[in-house]
Amino acid sequence: MKTSFLHIEQSPALHGTVPLVGAKNAVLVIMASLVLTRGKSRLKNVPASADVLQMIRLLEELGASVTFFKDEHELEVDTTGVDRWQVSPDIMKKMRASVLVMGALLARFGRADIAMPGGCLIGDRPINYHLSNFEKMGVIVEQSGEFLCARVSKNMAARRLVLAYPSVGATENIMMAATAIAGTTRIVNAALEPEVLDLVAVLQKMGAHIAILPHGTIEITGGADLKPIVHSVIMDRLEAGALLLAGAITGGNVYLPDAPAYALDVFLLKLEEMGHTIEVGAHEVGIRLIATNSPRAVSFKTGPYPSFPTDLQAPMFALQCLADGESVIEETVFENRLLHARELSKMGAQVTVEGNKAVIKGVEELYGTQVIATDIRASCALVLAGLAARGSTIVTGVHHWKRGYDSLEQKLRALGGYVVLHEDEQLNGELVQQEQEKALQK
Ligand code: EPZ
Repeated sequence: MKTSFLHIEQSPALHGTVPLVGAKNAVLVIMASLVLTRGKSRLKNVPASADVLQMIRLLEELGASVTFFKDEHELEVDTTGVDRWQVSPDIMKKMRASVLVMGALLARFGRADIAMPGGCLIGDRPINYHLSNFEKMGVIVEQSGEFLCARVSKNMAARRLVLAYPSVGATENIMMAATAIAGTTRIVNAALEPEVLDLVAVLQKMGAHIAILPHGTIEITGGADLKPIVHSVIMDRLEAGALLLAGAITGGNVYLPDAPAYALDVFLLKLEEMGHTIEVGAHEVGIRLIATNSPRAVSFKTGPYPSFPTDLQAPMFALQCLADGESVIEETVFENRLLHARELSKMGAQVTVEGNKAVIKGVEELYGTQVIATDIRASCALVLAGLAARGSTIVTGVHHWKRGYDSLEQKLRALGGYVVLHEDEQLNGELVQQEQEKALQK
């Protein structure tokens, strides 16, 4: 049977220096925000991941013209021709982040029709915080078939909106809609992730008046005419985390000169608690990890920024499987984001999961086998485990890997890891056998 899969072999200590790309969770929402302007914008540090290609498709479906200079990681988006406000089910099904164009469409056209975004394995991913706050702003939201149709009304007004949970997407969507409402909209209990702040920086560059108050309230004073921009997207702290963890799990030495250490504080603290040495560059940019050969198990709980990021929970989980002692990991952001525990157990990890908590007892060794990725970050966890496990690891479900990362397997190879992405190839026992023989000949 033809399929795509990642093939990983046990690898020597990873060492070397690699560059990062821009943050997926910043670039997607920034691309959506360009709908607020009419004209040609340019984004730099844009990763060539599947989700970015999907967002390009969405913008083109709305009428934008987009040129992606892949080699330079630059995107040129001309939104002059944007004249549609409907997001098709096909696009929405492929990428739930499409919901992020809703606020910008409401600001530009006073209307937005989007197909209901689906959930995924990590959770139902509802958008009630987005919709209920749009309604408080005066938007009328109705379901028509499989579409949600949102229309501004004559009662649009700047309100004080309180989020029950600091939702990243809801904060971003409300902010973009509020740029077109006269007066000052306040978002209380807003998300303040670095990717949200990069969107704030973009909106301010466009001419929006946005202030962030100390206690996590964002104020948007709407009405300005927003202009196209040039912007360098912040570097991806999640790609940085993955590369540092690859160095850690193989006992290596990895240097990331453009890594945003300022956006990874709690994560880096946990790596130091394990016994790894972390060196941070001037102005909190640039990270070197020098791995310890006797890593201690650490426990942590995920949460909204600046807590431990949920998107680094699975990759860090993989590390605990080979650390000395017991680790308790609590996932508080998504209701079902521990599915990688089962796959890591197939590789020999000692894990018990109770609700949203996992207890891991470190083992001496993992061993390669065939495992399935259940989300973007779980695919990363399985690749990391494969770098340390004895023998061959085959990871299927690589569409997750390609959605979230831009050729991360090439960067891991540049550091000395054995990770190969096979696209639409025959996956059978013989292939794994051949690969094993090839790897042993190296
Ligand atoms: C963003 O998702 C990121 N995606 C996620 O990254 C990230 O894990 C998440 O923020 C948390 O940091 C992008 O930016 C494209 P939320 P988002 O709204 O906005 C619940 C990755 O791997 N909720 O902060 O969807 C929700 O179900 C991805 O790169 C509601 O109940 O996250 C979740 O349990 C995964 N109702 C929690 O809040 C709502 O209306 C946090 O969700 C909205 C959210």
